[in-house]
Amino acid sequence: MSWPSCPGNAGGLPGAILLAICLLSQTGCSSAPTAKDSGAEQVLVVKIAKLPGGPEAWERLLDGFRAEHAGLAVHTEWLPNASDEQHLFYVINLEAGAADFDVFALDVVWVQEFARAGWLLDLTERLTSDEVRLLRDDYFRGAAACSFLDGRCYAIPWFTDAGLLYYREDLLSRYGLSPPRTWDELARQAQLVRKRQGDPALAGFLFQGKQYEGLVCAALEVLRGHGGDVLRGGKPSLNDPACVRALEFLRELVVSDVSPPMVRSADEEATRRLFGDGKAVFLRNWPYAWTLFQAPGSAVRGKVGIARVPAQPGAASAPTLGGWQFGVNRNSRRPGPAVELVRYFMRPDIQRRLVLELGLTSPRRSVLRNPEILAANPFLGKLVESLESACPRPLSPYYLAISHELQSAFSGVVAGIRQPAPALAQAQRRIEGILAQEAAR
Ligand code: GLC
Repeated sequence: MSWPSCPGNAGGLPGAILLAICLLSQTGCSSAPTAKDSGAEQVLVVKIAKLPGGPEAWERLLDGFRAEHAGLAVHTEWLPNASDEQHLFYVINLEAGAADFDVFALDVVWVQEFARAGWLLDLTERLTSDEVRLLRDDYFRGAAACSFLDGRCYAIPWFTDAGLLYYREDLLSRYGLSPPRTWDELARQAQLVRKRQGDPALAGFLFQGKQYEGLVCAALEVLRGHGGDVLRGGKPSLNDPACVRALEFLRELVVSDVSPPMVRSADEEATRRLFGDGKAVFLRNWPYAWTLFQAPGSAVRGKVGIARVPAQPGAASAPTLGGWQFGVNRNSRRPGPAVELVRYFMRPDIQRRLVLELGLTSPRRSVLRNPEILAANPFLGKLVESLESACPRPLSPYYLAISHELQSAFSGVVAGIRQPAPALAQAQRRIEGILAQEAAR
């Protein structure tokens, strides 16, 4: 099966020994019931990260599958939220040939790496022609493209993400402002609103600045929104003056206090909570935050708008493509039922419930455009535009190695300990080295 190629092209992790031990012990102490315990003939184990709305809605969703598969118990095992921590867990366990989980959620940026390592069941021949057509025509192109390596399908998009700019609608309109289109405008507006509000506790722009995968997602939006990119034509392009300007902008955000010092160590949840407490004008985050901002009792309920992430004049807005896929452990002892579960999550009725009951974004266009869904959540209509144009991170089995170089450069600049140009030059050299190794294999 051929698949349209994605822009860009191009995998180690910090030696977090403590975390590794902790993650290893999670498998060691796994309490998945045996078939005997549950009274069912077979047990399917699914691993996913904790969900924003808690486990109940997820379990209810699984109940439909359980009802259709008598004799099959489905047990969920939860992992920590951070993509990097989950990655570490899987690398350790799959490398060791773990067979104690069947279906698991993969960040869009891991599929190629895990497929190359031989850890994923090849789904290509198991998909029906209708499902292939669906993936091609109804799934958002970027999300579907991340499921493939060398034309073979190794995972199916579960939910999708695109970076969004959240803004305080009430505050912008109080000062006659419309949502910023350029990064410079965002910085100016943030300062203006803060000054006029006269509240020292009100932050301007919150983004994820901690050294981790989320920083790569956020900083790429600034980089690309200044006309730069990590790779061009498959080659590293970080020496471009546009990239230097973008990192200077990022550093200036912190130096000029448009972004508070907390961003240097902030992840999605830390920034989401601060903005949700009404303590910031702008926030960069994923779609999941919307439902939480609109929840009863939220300090910002009814006061938030979303816009596309800004871009400087002459550059295009480039929301980062995120999201999660379901794959099947190649060592699964129950591949048939495991594939059935992955397939269950492709169904439109299940995808609709994913949106309505779990607040996650369906990767299927027809689901997001469904009148019932749109009526329940008009926000989704606006979101589609960002999803359609979401830009993937470099697609490569070596993505994680590339990401670590980017993380080091970006966080050094955000923390104020590295200068943009030399940080980028070093990342450029190292990514060249990673790609040269890839080419030599
Ligand atoms: C979200 C995205 C994922 C990304 C991660 C970074 O979970 O869906 O693709 O890698 O955030 O923190």
